[in-house]
Amino acid sequence: MPDIVTTDRLAKRYREHPVVHDLDLRIPEGCVYGFLGPNGSGKSTTMKMLLGLVRPSSGEIRIGGRPMRRSTRRELLGGIGSLIETPPGYGHLTGRENMRLVQRLLGLGDGQVARAVRTVRLQDHLDKKVRAYSLGMKQRLGIAMALAREPRLLILDEPTNGLDPAGIEEIRGLLRRLAGDGVTVMVSSHLLGEIDRTATVLGILGGGRLLFQGTRAELFARSAPDVLIDTPDPAYAHSLLSGGFESRLDGTSVRLAGLDDRATAKAVAHLVGAGVDVHGVRRGERSLEDVFMDLTGGGGL
Ligand SMILES: Nc1ncnc2c1ncn2[C@@H]1O[C@H](COP(=O)(O)OP(=O)(O)O)[C@@H](O)[C@H]1O
Ligand SMILES: [Mg+2]
Repeated sequence: MPDIVTTDRLAKRYREHPVVHDLDLRIPEGCVYGFLGPNGSGKSTTMKMLLGLVRPSSGEIRIGGRPMRRSTRRELLGGIGSLIETPPGYGHLTGRENMRLVQRLLGLGDGQVARAVRTVRLQDHLDKKVRAYSLGMKQRLGIAMALAREPRLLILDEPTNGLDPAGIEEIRGLLRRLAGDGVTVMVSSHLLGEIDRTATVLGILGGGRLLFQGTRAELFARSAPDVLIDTPDPAYAHSLLSGGFESRLDGTSVRLAGLDDRATAKAVAHLVGAGVDVHGVRRGERSLEDVFMDLTGGGGL
């Protein structure tokens, strides 16, 4: 898949204080790109630069291969829908009235508006005033407003922020449906679990720098997973290993945290050298949280 968004050494400094450092983003067309990072890591600033709301200090942005310049900006931004920070929409108007405003502003057809509303599953709530909507419904209305123009790319800044579990699940389902329809979605979160399994490509930001970018599988491959050693006497094996390794008992095996191949060979040799029967050596599952901790050096999300 070609990349719909690429940035080259994209950076933002406020006065002399850098908040985003030389980002080389690569967002493949048709994916859900999870843009993850702790609060203050530069997610919103980056998204605003992509949307022409914040001027980059240096670097280049390309959308669909075309550089964003003063002369191309309007046209490129016309293909991007976005939801940044608080959801838009007038509280004293109904959902339908809000959608009609967007329709007039952008000169859209009835079909486009109806499709956007159906995609976010708000068709049965259009006659309610927006101030009576739940936060999740407001977010979905904001996404419908962004979707009505049928963008190729949707940029959503923390759309799950503050939602209850049902609201989060609704947004997750929506992101999957959009990706199924061929819309590329870039979605940010400071909470790993919220877009975790929904994103097919991840970009992880820490302190304004891209710590990782790639698929979930690539992320896991990069970090050394736990090793489980099966022996008839795991407690004895644990006592032998606990001096040199981060070891603990795990059912009928010994679990060693985050070992690369070399360290695994060393641990096994140590056990065999001490006369322990090693019946099996397996790689354990790691959670995305564990992997993220490795990347950020324990700073967490
Ligand atoms: N207009 C601004 N002027 C000065 N500093 C800013 C401005 N906007 C954001 N920042 C700083 O840039 C950093 C990144 O902020 P932001 O992009 O909002 O991070 P995130 O969205 O990941 O929480 C923060 O330290 C924030 O204080
Ligand atoms: Mg933010």
